[in-house]
Amino acid sequence: MASVTLERINKVYENGFHAIHDVSIDIEDGEFMVLVGPSGCAKSTMLRMVAGLEEISDGNLSIGGTVCNDLAPKDRGIAMVFQNYALYPHMTAYENMAFGLETARKPKDEIERRVKEAAQLLEISELLDRKPSQMSGGQCQRVAVGRAMVRKPEVFLFDEPLSNLDAKLRVAMRMRITKLHQQLKDSGRPATMIYVTHDQVEAMTMGDRVCILNRGRVMQIDSPMKLYHNPKNRFVAEFIGSPAMNVIEGALSFDSSKCYFTHSGYAIALDARAENVLQPAVDSNQGVAFGIRPEDIYLSEAKSETHQYPAEIKAIERLGSELLYHIEVFGEEIVCKMPFSTNEFNVEDRVFVYFDVEKSHLFKNDDIENENLYFQQNKDLLES
Ligand SMILES: Nc1ncnc2c1ncn2[C@@H]1O[C@H](COP(=O)(O)OP(=O)(O)OP(=O)(O)O)[C@@H](O)[C@H]1O
Ligand SMILES: [Mg+2]
Repeated sequence: MASVTLERINKVYENGFHAIHDVSIDIEDGEFMVLVGPSGCAKSTMLRMVAGLEEISDGNLSIGGTVCNDLAPKDRGIAMVFQNYALYPHMTAYENMAFGLETARKPKDEIERRVKEAAQLLEISELLDRKPSQMSGGQCQRVAVGRAMVRKPEVFLFDEPLSNLDAKLRVAMRMRITKLHQQLKDSGRPATMIYVTHDQVEAMTMGDRVCILNRGRVMQIDSPMKLYHNPKNRFVAEFIGSPAMNVIEGALSFDSSKCYFTHSGYAIALDARAENVLQPAVDSNQGVAFGIRPEDIYLSEAKSETHQYPAEIKAIERLGSELLYHIEVFGEEIVCKMPFSTNEFNVEDRVFVYFDVEKSHLFKNDDIENENLYFQQNKDLLES
């Protein structure tokens, strides 16, 4: 059993810098949890605290239900894989993987069995005689994962293990680590994995759940799909998704039946969610931000009941199956994603825009960490 629980964890460094603020995370036994956030948000600090390499200033860390704030790293049942895989250069892959077990005085035949088993899973059996200088980055990284695996930890900690690899290798390694997690589960000895990255694609594709951090604080912990469709605040909304969600700052107005997002003389009629929350929560003078993903915006040559707002195509990015149109609407530049079609628009074309408001989000303007005004309603919707 190796659930990992962080309970109101704080970290204040010796120089007084408060790096982690009241972070609570419940990671289930066998779960793949990704920690993601911009540089400096304290991902590594958090992982190093779980590993026992960094002191916990306040709060409780439990592994397998036992508080282990003061437990030595070697007694925590964890193994960590770092960004710079730090293999011993004078040792072969085999020796690198065996080293920790030899120091722990495991019997020689058991060491051999474990190293070979790990090598087979990672498909590096034929590389065991090579030294790091004779292997590619991806192969070295697999040896580093193998070195962690042979110790049969209950918890794997990964700190940006793939960021030194080129894009193609990263994808391959990403799938291999996900597969390893699944294989351990299938074989009846599941491992809990905590994986740190600043790459949101990696986070979305690998995690059972993803914890998004900003400035040492938890923004949201959810499954990738929920993060995408129901971001808890503007920070999460803009962090998850590529190209990022468009966020336009404006105001609200109301008439007897509807609620509108207004900007430079135009009004977008909002859907029913707005009527339920906005009047009590926001007064109409307060600034709000309207969020809409690039794929929820549609363009047309002609004005119609749906396509009402005039815009101009400013730039086009052709991605093959999709096109990204950078358009100017309400004096703001936003991005619209459309599937490739033969009658595409050109730069400087005048078009009319339709916003699929049922997929939109609404935030108060003052703080990007304020709750999405639709969050609770979306949650009820996604869970029903
Ligand atoms: N020993 C230290 N003393 C004081 N402040 C520190 C120390 N180590 C890290 N910090 C600060 O704590 C914050 C979190 O650092 P951390 O390395 O955990 O960030 P990170 O999310 O892993 O960033 P990156 O994506 O760049 O690796 C940063 O602002 C950093 O400057
Ligand atoms: Mg880091």
